[in-house]
Amino acid sequence: MGFAHFGSIVLLTLFFRSNFGQQQEQPTPIPNTDEFFISDFFQKMGILNSSISNVYNFSSPVCSWQVVFCDANQEHVIGLNAPNLGLSGSIPDNTIGKLTKLQSLDLSSNQITNLPNDFWSLGSLKTLNLSNNTISMNLPSNIGNFGSLEKLDLSFNNFFGSLPESISSLISLQVLNLNRNGFDSTVPLGILACRSLISLDFSSNSFNGSLPDGFGSSFPKLKSLNLAGNEMKGKDSDFSKLESLKYLNISKNLFQGSVVEIFQESLEVVDLSSNHFEGLISQVNFSSLVYLDVSDNEVSGEFFSNLSETHNLKHLNFANNRFSKQNFLKIDQIRSLEYLNLSHTNLIGGIGDQISMLTHLKTLDLSSNHLTGKIPLLTSKTLQNLDLSFNNLTGEIPISLLRKLPWMERFNFSYNNLTLCDAQFSLETLHSAFIGSSNSCPIAANPNLLKTKTHTHKGLELALALTISLIVLLGALLFCAFGCRKKTQMWALKQDSYKEEQVISGPFSFQTDSTTWVADVKVANLVPVVIFEKPLLNFTFSDLLSATSNFDRGTLLAEGRFGPVYRGFLPGGIHVAVKVLVLGSTMTDQEAARELEYLGRIKHPNLVPLTGYCLAGEKRIAIYDYMENGNLHNLLHDLPLGIQTTEDWRFDTWQAEADESNGISNSISNSNSIGIQHVGSGDLLATWQFRHKIALGTARALAFLHHGCSPPIIHRDVKASSVYLDLNLEPRLSDFGLAKIFGNDLQDEMARGSFGYVPPEFLNQDGSSNSSSPCVITPKSDVYGFGVILLELISGKNPVEDEYPDENNSKDSNLVSWVRGLVRKNCGFLAIDPKIHNTGIEAHMVEALKIGYLCTADLPAKRPSMQQVVGLLKDLEPVMN
Ligand SMILES: *[C@@H]1O[C@H](CO)[C@@H](O)[C@H](O)[C@H]1NC(C)=O
Ligand SMILES: *[C@@H]1O[C@H](CO)[C@@H](O)[C@H](O)[C@H]1NC(C)=O
Ligand SMILES: *[C@@H]1O[C@H](CO)[C@@H](O)[C@H](O)[C@H]1NC(C)=O
Ligand SMILES: *[C@@H]1O[C@H](CO)[C@@H](O)[C@H](O)[C@H]1NC(C)=O
Ligand SMILES: *[C@@H]1O[C@H](CO)[C@@H](O)[C@H](O)[C@H]1NC(C)=O
Ligand SMILES: *[C@@H]1O[C@H](CO)[C@@H](O)[C@H](O)[C@H]1NC(C)=O
Ligand SMILES: *[C@@H]1O[C@H](CO)[C@@H](O)[C@H](O)[C@H]1NC(C)=O
Ligand SMILES: *[C@@H]1O[C@H](CO)[C@@H](O)[C@H](O)[C@H]1NC(C)=O
Ligand SMILES: *[C@@H]1O[C@H](CO)[C@@H](O)[C@H](O)[C@H]1NC(C)=O
Ligand SMILES: *[C@@H]1O[C@H](CO)[C@@H](O)[C@H](O)[C@H]1NC(C)=O
Repeated sequence: MGFAHFGSIVLLTLFFRSNFGQQQEQPTPIPNTDEFFISDFFQKMGILNSSISNVYNFSSPVCSWQVVFCDANQEHVIGLNAPNLGLSGSIPDNTIGKLTKLQSLDLSSNQITNLPNDFWSLGSLKTLNLSNNTISMNLPSNIGNFGSLEKLDLSFNNFFGSLPESISSLISLQVLNLNRNGFDSTVPLGILACRSLISLDFSSNSFNGSLPDGFGSSFPKLKSLNLAGNEMKGKDSDFSKLESLKYLNISKNLFQGSVVEIFQESLEVVDLSSNHFEGLISQVNFSSLVYLDVSDNEVSGEFFSNLSETHNLKHLNFANNRFSKQNFLKIDQIRSLEYLNLSHTNLIGGIGDQISMLTHLKTLDLSSNHLTGKIPLLTSKTLQNLDLSFNNLTGEIPISLLRKLPWMERFNFSYNNLTLCDAQFSLETLHSAFIGSSNSCPIAANPNLLKTKTHTHKGLELALALTISLIVLLGALLFCAFGCRKKTQMWALKQDSYKEEQVISGPFSFQTDSTTWVADVKVANLVPVVIFEKPLLNFTFSDLLSATSNFDRGTLLAEGRFGPVYRGFLPGGIHVAVKVLVLGSTMTDQEAARELEYLGRIKHPNLVPLTGYCLAGEKRIAIYDYMENGNLHNLLHDLPLGIQTTEDWRFDTWQAEADESNGISNSISNSNSIGIQHVGSGDLLATWQFRHKIALGTARALAFLHHGCSPPIIHRDVKASSVYLDLNLEPRLSDFGLAKIFGNDLQDEMARGSFGYVPPEFLNQDGSSNSSSPCVITPKSDVYGFGVILLELISGKNPVEDEYPDENNSKDSNLVSWVRGLVRKNCGFLAIDPKIHNTGIEAHMVEALKIGYLCTADLPAKRPSMQQVVGLLKDLEPVMN
């Protein structure tokens, strides 16, 4: 303050210096002129000698002041526009009260506490704004002197007592705002004379009693009426003739009568909340509304069937009324809806998946109803508030929804019968938002198993990250030094691809060697790709298109039983295998999505994780982590990794990996100790240790699916080409759960397995697949498939159509019958792959053949469980790490 004061003295001194010679003093206005009253006002209100005077230059003539407007002769002040100037205290007499020609006065947002007696003589006022002060007084009848007043804003003050009857003199009044004062008693009859009113706000006062008779028909021009937060007792008919009304807020009063009478065509915003309205909601035509709040009343009937016409609605609140029991019907027509509160509205039945069509939804409250069934996917990206508490919802909370919760403002799932599977929530959250839900993951995965793995690499990762950022920095510096031209080129390129993205529309047709498949998608950019671990990345089908060069044959990895598999890089360097499931499925989109979400949750070090999915028209597309080192079938039988043969990148990466990877150095040194000199892909696979490791990993994966998951997952298609090797050469089983999605019918041959791996219970006498006898699929059919893989691993032979020495009838023979014959004759050693024969102990390999023998027993009941198989295999060789 002191400094500011000093500052103004300095400024004043400067001012006088600059006017030196003219002998001009600060002008003293002639008494009893408007100029005099104004400067007296500012002086007495403590403004002229405050720091603000520097800004407003009060030393100049009054009419040139920024806050003052004078008439053409510079004689009379007609406007004083002084909001937020720090004016404080009572306005003294003989100041602005004497400005007889004043038409506009704005003293809003100051700290004025009282008005002078002569204030009420300002008979020319058209606009008076005293909003946001601390004026504490009765509004005197003298207000009637302001016959020309068009706008009166007294909001945010402490006016108290009744509104005087003399308000009837303000016949030109268009805006009357008394919001947030202490006015009480009834609204005076005099208000009915203010027929020019366009906006009337009495909200947050203590007005009581009824509105004067004839209220509705008195304001033909009224567009906005706010009586919220009083104690008024009116009736529905009070509002029935307000023909221009667009905004009606009578929330928090004691109004009663039929809700039906309130609504009329012109209305856009209606807030009737917290009153005592009743009546049948189905008789109300609210088709033109944008905002509707009828919460906390006594309205009855059903509302769902009438909602379909309310296309403009953004905000809808029906909470806490007396509606009859009604089903949750389709609501997807109200596409612009942002707020939906149907709490306590007697809803029954399921929520329905269509609610996901409300893509602008920010708040959804369905609490305290009788809703049953599962929670739909709720894909709205804008959702911030979700309350489903106090219902009878069951099943799992969709994982895509769970993943979004940490980004939401508020959510509540309490008092249902829900299951969730997530470890990320704090105990407090679980105890407040999930009361009564069970947090039990259906998968008994040990998350620590995966976590510790990443932990151990953390130091390395940090070092790597530092190195990379240094390299990037260096690169950036070089780039800056060399190429400003390149920059513009790159920009042009980017724009191009952006443009391309805009126009991708389908349907899309793609060709592989054996099939043509069509994605019946209208606009590729609108079909989402769900990536589980990264729910906020908004990938679409168009990203899949660019990731796979439009599903180009060059990116084809394999053509599996379900359809083609492509290799691709999603934005952000996510390396994926994209599996297109070309067969039709009996599942609906929602069912398939739910199943895929479930599969995405299943994690095990020996399973290929499902990364995400996309529902592209009829086609379901499963997205997996890319497995760097190909599948067992191709490796074992020396086939190229993928279909394409032009570019054999396999050996390079393999070797590079072998040099770097810690995991592999173990097996390399092992191999070396047995006398293997050269290490390559083929050579590595040509060791007993490595083949045993693959068998054990695969067995673990199956044991996990059978015994670690509830309900158990039966793979139904266990075969060598479903076993992949990842970056660290760990075996990983793929495609689990797909058979369920795409061969729903148990009779379906598709669901049973691939040629050579099909257990005898599914085969006819002639060896072909049996499609008539109804066979129950059990985990034991997977055990058979695993047995075949095990025999394949030890013998190095194909399950069928290979050469099996010493077999009589080579046409009908297969790997299983050949090995089983040898084992029975105690000649198992003859079946051992010569390539691995010298890399381990023969007795162990023979022992492993016996495990394969058990697994491939004709009778399912005679086969061991996968858990037992894991135990047997572990006993065979010391387990590394
Ligand atoms: C401003 O100056 C006037 C007289 O010049 C004095 O009465 C008033 O108290 C002063 N106000 C402040 C806030 O200093
Ligand atoms: C204040 O007004 C005087 C007279 O009109 C003028 O000479 C001076 O430049 C103004 N000062 C500022 C800071 O605007
Ligand atoms: C009310 O006035 C104070 C200053 O007195 C200001 O800071 C505040 O923003 C004003 N509030 C409104 C709603 O205009
Ligand atoms: C009165 O002033 C306040 C604050 O400056 C402003 O928000 C309000 O719109 C004004 N009222 C009228 C009727 O212009
Ligand atoms: C309305 O409020 C006034 C002032 O507080 C009070 O005297 C009067 O009794 C109230 N009338 C009703 C009907 O509540
Ligand atoms: C109605 O008024 C109440 C109280 O002032 C307020 O909370 C509510 O938001 C208003 N409704 C609308 C639709 O503006
Ligand atoms: C509301 O829906 C019901 C049932 O469809 C219909 O009979 C009634 O006329 C509708 N009311 C309005 C106002 O549209
Ligand atoms: C509801 O009002 C709209 C116009 O606002 C009209 O077109 C429609 O026919 C009305 N519906 C019923 C059922 O009266
Ligand atoms: C939920 O269902 C149970 C059993 O059907 C029933 O007893 C209970 O009242 C229901 N709860 C709600 C809130 O509807
Ligand atoms: C909750 O759901 C489980 C199975 O989903 C069911 O067994 C149980 O009876 C349900 N409990 C209630 C109170 O409805």
